[in-house]
This record gives sequence, structure tokens and C-alpha cells, in this order.
Amino acid sequence: MNKVQITFLFLVLSTSLFAREGMWIPTLLDKYSIEEMQQMGFKLTAEDIYSINHNSLKDAVVIFGGGCTGEMVSDEGLLFTNYHCGYSNIQSHSSVENDYLTDGFWAMSKEEELPNPGLEVRFLEYMEDVTDSVMVNTEGLEGFDFQDKIDENIEAIETYHSDDDKYEAVVKPLYYGNQYFVYVYKVYTDVRLVGAPPSAIGKFGGDTDNWMWPRHTGDFSIFRVYADENNEPAEYSEDNVPYQPKKYLPISLNGVQEDDFVMLLGYPGTTQQYLPSEAVEMVMEQSDPDMIAIRTEKLNILSKHMEADPKVRIQYASKYASTSNAWKKWQGEIKGLKRMDALGIKADFESDFEKWYNQNDSLTTIYEGVLPEFERLYVALEDYDRAYNYYNEIVLRGTDIFSLVNYYSQVCKAWDGFTDERKVELRGRLVSEMKSHFKDYDQPTDEEVFVKLIRMLYDDLDPLFLSESFVDLMQKYDDEKLQKKVYQKSVFTDQEKLLNLTNSLDESKVKKLSKDPLMVLFDDLRGFAQRNINMVYSGLNDEIEILQKKYMKGIMDMKADELLYPDANFTMRIAYGKVEDYKPMDAVVYTHYTTLEGIIEKDNPDIYDYNVPQRLKDLYQSSDYGKYGQNGEMPVAFIASVHTTGGNSGSPAINANGELIGLNFDRCWEGTMSDILFDPDMCRNIMVDVRYVLFLIDKFAGAGYLLDEMEIRN
Ligand code: ARG
Ligand code: GLU
Repeated sequence: MNKVQITFLFLVLSTSLFAREGMWIPTLLDKYSIEEMQQMGFKLTAEDIYSINHNSLKDAVVIFGGGCTGEMVSDEGLLFTNYHCGYSNIQSHSSVENDYLTDGFWAMSKEEELPNPGLEVRFLEYMEDVTDSVMVNTEGLEGFDFQDKIDENIEAIETYHSDDDKYEAVVKPLYYGNQYFVYVYKVYTDVRLVGAPPSAIGKFGGDTDNWMWPRHTGDFSIFRVYADENNEPAEYSEDNVPYQPKKYLPISLNGVQEDDFVMLLGYPGTTQQYLPSEAVEMVMEQSDPDMIAIRTEKLNILSKHMEADPKVRIQYASKYASTSNAWKKWQGEIKGLKRMDALGIKADFESDFEKWYNQNDSLTTIYEGVLPEFERLYVALEDYDRAYNYYNEIVLRGTDIFSLVNYYSQVCKAWDGFTDERKVELRGRLVSEMKSHFKDYDQPTDEEVFVKLIRMLYDDLDPLFLSESFVDLMQKYDDEKLQKKVYQKSVFTDQEKLLNLTNSLDESKVKKLSKDPLMVLFDDLRGFAQRNINMVYSGLNDEIEILQKKYMKGIMDMKADELLYPDANFTMRIAYGKVEDYKPMDAVVYTHYTTLEGIIEKDNPDIYDYNVPQRLKDLYQSSDYGKYGQNGEMPVAFIASVHTTGGNSGSPAINANGELIGLNFDRCWEGTMSDILFDPDMCRNIMVDVRYVLFLIDKFAGAGYLLDEMEIRN
């Protein structure tokens, strides 16, 4: 081999080694990935990303609300996240008169920013490996005793790190409990809405384009974090001042080229890369299809009513989006797993595992039971998994009315035990709960969903998983009777009556409520599920978890010289890759970025989700892109081979210099199975280009004053 050939070989080897799969622990970058990241072009150090000694990138990245990521972009607490992450807040400020969904919202001064009770932002102060402390005094213990001791230790660790409630401390297992970390957060609770584009931009393409590339969504919204005069967390108050973050991200106008290095810091929620084949099979063949079937019925009914009435469209916009999101992903997931032959891949892996432990007697003793035991457990779980999903999807989250009844049911059941003070508080809670329910409630819509789904529960589940009283009811009542004699008879459909009753809730009213036909039905279904399904279901899952820990330990030993990342668990991770196109099918290549041109191509005033705002069309006509455009084009979104999952929404996409270049918001359809199996050829994450975000703020919304507080680099 000559020198050129050797260099060539080295290049081929080293690029194919670029492990794009993986969500890495920020404190362990030195040990794991930083070298490779730097080879790919990253110019910063591990300390620049995460440091306990000085401010680092991690100080600019937050948990936004219950399940998204956000980032600081100014020293006055300005925060970027996705439009869909702020969606329920934007929607809650909207009405037919003030339709921020259609028109967008822009605070033209700090006074106009809108508070969002209940919305929280979490800053990670530090994280630490606490495995040894979690394991203290567990030696010799087994089963429940072992778990109880662990729980006790975890509680002590959390209390220790919470430091007089100034910090929130959470211990979480990694590698299924082969390791533990404590995460310590500061929680800010005064978070105000600053700006959001019209949903025709922020949700452009709606659920049709969701989970797909090519994509043209301006998926961003802007909030501001407020603090007290000492920069500490405080409940909402007019006296609060903009929070000064330890670190905020500079923004680059340079854009992206193919092969550029991209890094994401964020909060990926859940992945399951180390499942045995039985588990993957259950997802593909049963759980996903069941939940898809239930939601398909629900979504059909919602969209029918939403199309017929603009009021219903607004009321159900957020509910529709969240129901359809997972529904669509599951469909992509099944497809991807089949295409990859996931079961074959898992079977091969398992036979390698068997070969590995069979090399050595002591390994054989430890591990030979694992795979057969998985098989036994998943066979036992199968029917319970179906029943669990049905009750969960239908009784707990299927209909608006049952969600409301659920609140009342819990309060009523425990009523006798409450102090008078607590009773006063609970009446207030229920009133605010019912008010927010009725704001976004349309009875004809929910009634239809109710009847459809309840019937499905009855038709689809083995009678073994139905209570006798429920079976009687369903045999006696047809759909019309179910609607008239159960739903419409209930006090839960009458806002005024329910309000009076709630305000004066006492023992006799609690009794009365417990006879309400919807409450009776809910309690029957819920009670049956708790007694006859959930206990077995979670018992089996506990066993599976213990086994999965052992299996994970085996995998870690077998692959001792490879880098293994822990499954996502909604803790801060680093993921990285390159800006990269992909080939979704034979003869088709998807390029790595989209432009405003594509928005105009998709324009369709007849379809709500594709109705491009006139102002955006005007800007396109005049090519008025300012410094945000590139070669006469206005870039909109781009893709990269970075391993992400739900929770990564809003995560900053950061370039080789540590500058913000985009906001992550989705994955490509062909790669949605990456929560279970990652395919480097097909898995791409989707980001909105930060230049499009700035263009919209500046040129579209005329809120350019916001740019003054940012650090924008050319
Ligand atoms: N698929 C993205 C995620 O998982 C975006 C969802 C919001 N958009 C929507 N059209 N429902 O969260
Ligand atoms: N849209 C997702 C979220 O809300 C991110 C996309 C994904 O699942 O990768 O977190």
C-alpha cells in the first residue's frame, strides 16, 4: 500500500468511526466523546460545555415546562424554545377575539409580556455521580428490602442536596440502576410570553408535515424569565426583574454547510436502546397498533368538529396536536423497525450475548437465566399490556369529561379525611380546574368521542378485563342511551350547577356526586383497572426492570471496551453529528436544508395549516431578507445526524464555535424508530435555522428591538 492509499484508508476508517448515535453525559465528555467531537471540527473544550468552576454552555440551557428544552439568548433572561413547546401557553391566552394562534403575539415592551401561571424553567446547577451513596448498606439485601434501602438512600441524598429548598434535587438511575446521578436545579416560576409567530408559521404544515422532512416550520417562541431583585426565583410579581443568566448563547448568522459539526445540549426524555427482542416485538405488534387504533377514532371525531366550527378549532387545537403527535410517531416507528428488521438485529445481539457469557462458567451462572426469563415475563405481560393501554388511553386521557371527573373523584374519595382548611383550598382548586376545563370544552365533540371510545373498550378487550357492572351496562345501553342516560344526565356537563355544587362542596354534596352517572361509571372502570390490571401490570414491570438491570450490566461487561451511553431519562445530555442529507428511498435524496421558496410552494389558503400569511408572501416577493438570507435565499430549516428524542424540542443547535445556529424541533419520518434502534443512514434531527427566527422577529413581526439584547455574530 502506498502512502496515499494508507491516508485514504485512514480517512474512511475515521469517518465511519464517527459515532453519531448516542446521548452523552455532560460531565463525562473528557472520558467519552470530546476527542471525536474535536476531530469533527468542534473548537471548544469539555470544560466550555460543562464546568463547575466557571460559567459554561450548560448554564444557558434549561428545562422548559414539563417536557421541553429552552436556552438563554440574552443577559435579560430572554429564552428561545419551540413554538410547540409554548403552544399550550399561547393557546391559553387566545380567544376568538384575541386569536394569537392565527395572528401571532408580540410584546412590544416588557410591560406587554404575558405571565403564565404554572410554567417553570429549571437551570441545572450541577450533577454528580452518587452511585456509591445510593448503594450504602445495601449489601446482602435482596428484592424489596434492597429496593427500600435504595429508596431511603435516594431520599437522604435529595434532601441533602436540596439545601433549604433553595434547590430542587433529583436522583435518577442511569443504565437501569447500574449507576445513579443527582441533578440539582434552580426553578424559576415567573416566565412570561414575549413573542410567538402565527401558527401558520410556528406550526406550518401542522400535523400533516409533523415528523417529516422536507419541513418548513418556524417552530419557535420567545419567553422571558423573571427573578426577584437578588436574581433569585420568585413567584410572579410586578416588582420582579429580568433574570440575569450566568451564560447566554451568542447567535451566529453564518448558517450551515453540509458536513458542518452540530452539537445539541438538551433534555431527551426516553429511549429504550437496550430492550430484549420480546419487548420490541410487543411494541411493534401490539402496544403501538392498539394506541394508534384508539387515537385514530378520537382524532377523526375531533377534526370533523374542528373543521365545522372555528371556536372548536381553537378549543381543541392543543389537544389535537398532542394526541396526534405520538399517534403519528408510533406509525413511523413501526415502519422503521420493520424496515431495519429490528427483531433480527435483536436476535443476533442476543445470540452474541449468549456466546459471550458461555465463554466462562461464572458468567454463565450469572447470565444464563436472563433471556429465558425475559421471554416468560413478556408472555405474561402481553394481555395486561393491552388492557393497560386501553384503560389508559380511554379512561384516563381519552375524553375531556373523564379527566374532569377524575379530579373530583380523587377529592371526593378522600373528603372525610381533610381538615376544614384543606377543604376550602380544595374547593378553590376544583373551581379553577373546572373553569379551565370548560374554557376548552365542546360537549357535542366530547360526547361523540366518549361514546366511541367507551364502546371500543367494551368491544376490543377480553371480558376478563371488564367489570361485570360495565358489561351489564353496555349490553343494556346502545350508544344513544349511553349518551343520553350517562353523559347528558351528569352534572359534570352543566357548568353552572357544577360551580354551585363545588363552591359549597360538603359531605352531602360529595354523596350526591358519588351517585352521578359519569362518576359511577368512571369509578367503576378506574377501580376495576386498579384492582385487576394495574397491580399485575406494574408487578411484572418491576420484575422486568430488575432483570433489565442485570441484562444491562451484562451488556456493559460484554462491551467493556466500547462506549455505551445510558438511555435517555430527561436529564441533560450532549448529542452531536454533522449536517447531512439522506436517502429516504431508492432514487431519492433529501438535501440538508429548506428555504422560504418551499413555503410558497406549499401555500394553500384553503388549508388552515398551509395558509401562508400575506406579510410573509410580500417579504418573499420583494426578497427582503436583509442579513438573514444567503445567496438570495431565505433558509428555513436544516437536518443533521444527531441522536435526539422527545424532550429535545427547543434544544439549541450549536456550531463548532459554541454559537447558536438553530432550534431542534423534530425528527425525520424514516428515523422515528431511533428511540429503540438508531440507523445512521436514516436518522436525522430537524432544526429551524436561527436566521429564519431572527428574520421573522425583525422583518415579519417588527419586533427588532428584541435583537438588541442578543449577541448576534456575522
Ligand atoms: N413532532 C414534534 C415533537 O415530537 C413536534 C410536535 C408538535 N407539532 C405538531 N404538529 N403536533 O414534539
Ligand atoms: N418534537 C419533539 C419534542 O417535543 C422532538 C422531536 C423528537 O422526538 O425527536 O421534544
